[in-house]
Order: sequence, then structure tokens, then C-alpha cells
Amino acid sequence: MEHAVAATPAWAVLAYLVAGVLFILALRGLSSPESSQAGNRNGMIGMLIAVGTTLALHPTGLPLIIGAIAIGGGIGWVIAQRIQMTAMPELVAGFHSLVGMAAVLVGCAAYLNPASFGIVDSAGAILGVSRVEMGLGVAIGAITFSGSIIAFLKLSGRMSGSPILLPGRHVLNLGVLVGILVLTGIFATDATAAAGQGPLLWIILALSFIIGVTLIIPIGGADMPVVISMLNSYSGWAAAAMGFTLQNTAMIITGALVGSSGAILSYIMCRAMNRSFISVIAGGFGADAGPAGEKGAAIQKSYKAGSADDAAFIMQNAESVIIVPGYGMAVSQAQHALREMGDLLKKEGVSVKYAIHPVAGRMPGHMNVLLAEANVPYDEVFELEDINSEFGQCDVAFVIGANDVTNPLAKTDKSSPIYGMPILDVEKAKTVLFVKRSMGGVGYAGVDNPVFYADNTMMLLADAKKMVENIVKGLNGGGH
Ligand code: TAP
Repeated sequence: MEHAVAATPAWAVLAYLVAGVLFILALRGLSSPESSQAGNRNGMIGMLIAVGTTLALHPTGLPLIIGAIAIGGGIGWVIAQRIQMTAMPELVAGFHSLVGMAAVLVGCAAYLNPASFGIVDSAGAILGVSRVEMGLGVAIGAITFSGSIIAFLKLSGRMSGSPILLPGRHVLNLGVLVGILVLTGIFATDATAAAGQGPLLWIILALSFIIGVTLIIPIGGADMPVVISMLNSYSGWAAAAMGFTLQNTAMIITGALVGSSGAILSYIMCRAMNRSFISVIAGGFGADAGPAGEKGAAIQKSYKAGSADDAAFIMQNAESVIIVPGYGMAVSQAQHALREMGDLLKKEGVSVKYAIHPVAGRMPGHMNVLLAEANVPYDEVFELEDINSEFGQCDVAFVIGANDVTNPLAKTDKSSPIYGMPILDVEKAKTVLFVKRSMGGVGYAGVDNPVFYADNTMMLLADAKKMVENIVKGLNGGGH
């Protein structure tokens, strides 16, 4: 039997190429806040061209495709309406699992019905190269699927965020990985597989589902940011594999772009967390089970609590204030009130800067997005390495809903899950103002923070937005 699928017409190849270039421009645009809107626009136009071209290439399948888009789009619409901003990371993890499953299903469909995918030779056997793509595509898809499900469960708190360390996990992971590669090699050369029969693909599939789980369960709290971007990368490679099976250039380009940009982001996150890339992808290297932090230690220690008016007074009389936002700012959506507070302080002649830790919040760029939404000027927002040395000279560090990213135990306590992570040195400021709801609450990594009990710290215990609104009132002279 000859290839059942006609070659892609030249105009479509060209359209896919244009879409690919637009995707690259989109990524380039997204690398800075100023150009991000243009970047997004390029991405949307590229996607419109890619989807339009694909639809035009499959006129007979249109009712099915449109039906599927309506169902999937409808579900996506409802989820997007309901989801809280703070639940975005687990939603993203959930969506990555769907990309993985799509790659698995495409691979399986191609295996079971190769002729309709145009991947058979004249004798009706599945082409060897297609079997390599199929084996790898199904494996990457399955790892993405089960790994993302575990990430979803961890991020949504349905499963403990602390590392689950199986004995001999490195040997196990390495063994399974080698097994998958060897089996894919055999699958590519096996005659029964060429006839679309035999158990090999199903064994590869099962092993890949298993390794997706065993790779992600040992990764603990503080390393989850790396996992999110890593699974993002995997989902890209899974899509690229699908592109090969479906012989769709746009999908190969897009998948490779997502895969490689996700890999670069994972590398950047690893550097930000002071973790080795290899150890994180190998599954919880170095996450040796130490005592799980100092939960509950808060009760015996004494701390100073202050009011919004105290905070307003201290900051009004300061020369410089560095604001450190964290996850709690996102939870309470305090960014607009915060910008107003910054504006009022600047009117009083106070220098105001924002310090952003690379993993503050729950997703890459989380704080930058929220501050941009509140129109905080970009030139007041600094990355950790550009501002960390300034805490020593600043009058006030105003920490709002951040905890882990300011915890100096990361520098000293080897048993801490955040040990080794660079942190913002807020404790070096003359005064530290810490906004959080109660002394009982801990951050993502579940560890207490000694800065709460330091002599130069004043705790401002309230919901972040309410506290900042009251500080704004205080700054306006309307305090009680
Ligand atoms: P966290 O360490 O999670 O601390 C958040 C703080 O906000 C807590 O102290 C909490 O205390 C307070 N808070 C919560 N809701 C609040 C509200 N409505 N008003 C006022 N305060 C509130 O946050 P962080 O410092 O931003 O650190 C981020 C952590 O998340 C890191 O461990 C990081 O590894 C992890 N993580 C990051 C990412 C990415 S990519 N950024 C992804 C996954 C995990 P109370 O409960 O007492 O209020």
C-alpha cells in the first residue's frame, strides 16, 4: 500500500513556516515586559494561521474537528471562569497532562491504524522511522501525563508536597529509562511491530507511565517551580512527537519551541534555586529526608506586632523602602493597594523599590505579572541579584505575603527543604515589616522564619490587601 496521506501542499508548508516565525517572534517579545503585548499578538496571529491552515487541509473532517473544539473549548471556558489566579500552577500542570495524553493517543492510534496516517511502506508494514517516533512520542507523552498528574496533586495540596523517597530510586529510574530506550530500539526493528501487532508499544507505554510517577514524587516543595517548567518542556516534546506522527510541520516547530524554551526556563529556575539541573531531573537527588522543618516552633518565640498606622509612620519617615511581594500578595490581590501605597510614599520623598525573588509566588513571573497589572513602573522592579546588596543600606523592608523567599535558614540550616536557595536578605534592613495573616501560617515549604522574631522586625498581622489599604489611609492622614 502506498502512503495514504497526500503530501502537504506548498502553500500550507509556507503558511506553517510563517506561523513558526511568528511563534519565535512571540517568544522573543515575551522576554521583556515592554514588548510582551506585541509578543502575545504575534503568537495569536501565528496560532490563527496554523489552525486556519490545518482546517483548510482537512475539509472533510471539519464537522468532527469543530465538534471537538466546541466540547474542549466549552470545558476550557468553564474552567477559566471558575479558576482562582492562585490555582494557576496546578491548572497548568493539569493541562500539561492533557498534552501528554494527546500524544499517547495519537501514537496509539497511529500504531493501530497506520495506513490512515500514511506511515506504511508498499508492503503495508509500519515504517521503521515512524516506529522510532511512535515509541519515543508515546513514552514522552506518558511520562508527561503521569508526571503532570502527580505535580497537579502536589500543587493542589491533594498529595503531600514533601519528597517521597523510594529506596533505590535512582537505580530504579535509570533502569526503567534504559529499558524504555532499549525497547524502543527493538520496537523500531521488530517485524511484529511493523505489522502493527505485538506487546512492545504497550510495555513502553506502561513503563513510561510508571517512570513519570517515580520521577516526580521525590521532588519536594521548594523544587516544584523547576518541575512545573520541566513538565512544560516535556509537553512541548510530546507535541513535537505528535507532529512527526501527524506529519504536521507547524506542530513540530511549535512543540520544539515549547520544549526548548521550557528546558531553558527549567535551567534558569535551577540556577535561581541553586540546584543542579541533573539532580532535579533525575528525581530528587539531594532531597534526603531531614527533619521536616520547624513547624510549630512559632508558639514559644516572642515577636513584636504593629498596626497599619505604625507601619505608615515608620515608612513615611524612612528614606528608602524595599517592597518584597510573595504568594500572599497574590492570594489577597493586594497589588493595586500596594502601588497606591508606593505612590504616596514617593510623594513624601521616600525611595520605593520592589524586589522580586525568582520563585516568589507559585509560577514563574507571578509577581511581575501582578505588579504590571497594577501599573507599577518597570524601573522600580528589580531581580534578586540586582537588589540584594541594597537591603543593608535600606531603612525598611516591607515584606508582603512572602515567607520562604526571605528565610535566612536557607543559608544555614542544612536540614531545611529550602537549604541552598538564594534568598532576599530582608533581615539586613534597619526595620523589617512583615505582612501575613497569623503567626501560625507557614509558607510553601512549611518552615518557620526566624526573621519574624528578630528585634528589628514588626509583624503586621492581617490580610495583605486590608493591611495595605489601612496603611494607605494612615499615609493620607486618615489613621485612627
Ligand atoms: P510562601 O513562602 O508560600 O509564603 C506565603 C506567605 O503569605 C505565608 O507566610 C502566608 O502566611 C502569607 N499569606 C497567605 N495568604 C495571605 C493573605 N491573604 N494575606 C497576607 N498574607 C498571606 O511564599 P513566597 O515567599 O512567595 O515563596 C514561594 C514559595 O513557593 C517557595 O517555596 C517556592 O519554591 C514555592 N513555589 C514557587 C513556584 C514558582 S514558579 N514561583 C511554584 C511552586 C512553588 P499566613 O498563612 O500566615 O497568612
